[in-house]
Amino acid sequence: MKIFSACEAIRDHISQYKSTHESIALVPTMGHLHDGHISLIELAKTKATKVVVSIFINPIQFNQVSDYERYPRTLNDDLEKLRQFNIDVVFTPDLDELYPQGTTNTPKIIIPQLTESLEGQYRPGHFDGVCTVVCKLFNIITPDVAIFGAKDFQQLLIIRRMTQDLNFNIDIICGETRREADGLAMSSRNSHLSPAQRTLAPKLFSALQQTKDQFSSNDIKTLQEKGVSWLEQHGFRVEYFSIRDAENLQPITQGTDNAVVLAAAWLGETRLIDNLLFPMP
Ligand code: PAJ
Repeated sequence: MKIFSACEAIRDHISQYKSTHESIALVPTMGHLHDGHISLIELAKTKATKVVVSIFINPIQFNQVSDYERYPRTLNDDLEKLRQFNIDVVFTPDLDELYPQGTTNTPKIIIPQLTESLEGQYRPGHFDGVCTVVCKLFNIITPDVAIFGAKDFQQLLIIRRMTQDLNFNIDIICGETRREADGLAMSSRNSHLSPAQRTLAPKLFSALQQTKDQFSSNDIKTLQEKGVSWLEQHGFRVEYFSIRDAENLQPITQGTDNAVVLAAAWLGETRLIDNLLFPMP
């Protein structure tokens, strides 16, 4: 397994792959790897002959310095995991490789519309940071495919839009959300939950499932309100609980094929997000 922290070195290595007609799959991550990340890596292996995993905790996508500072940093464990999975290349860029002029002076990629509601409303600027770093990774690695998880559904749609709008020749592939046995979506942030919060956390997914089971397009507003109050009764502080068109995150209309219910809620100091996709009945 080759590990690179400089752009020039990884670029040289990628050129060698290209000269021997290898295909390249990129799996971007912020580390603290769990089975959700690993499932994306497994998927990547089926889509290309070489897999590149990036690990970079991207400061410009955090809304609060404290959230950035307390994000789990477990690089040695992560590298050990990746070795077991026979990954070809790991890219762990130094901060000044990605932000040579510093993080405040970097040009930013801003994708309109899709970024404005849901996560965008509660985490202003978050997706500008995500798109900027993913765009940089695309430019450095020049992958044929890149894998993103359905766990961050809005992020997935935004990256697809960015890829199309900025004319990247990259296939964006979606990996399903991996869950713990009790339904909680795996997340690097779950390690911040106290034991009591950890027992409550799967209720977020239960609320999404109840919404899906009770769905009819006539009572969307009632179902959303029900979801919020049920979670509040169980100790969550809900930011949004919203049923949308899965194509474009707009409100459901007659032409909608697939719906998605998306939620973000706090348990204590930990913010959890999850979503559930379902065909229109
Ligand atoms: P991170 O939170 O580390 O997630 C990396 C990838 O793993 C994302 O595509 C995310 O959707 C996916 N993922 C997270 N939890 C998952 C789960 N339980 N099942 C399946 N996939 C899961 O998302 C980011 O990093 C960053 O925003 C990034 C795209 C790397 C840009 O900095």
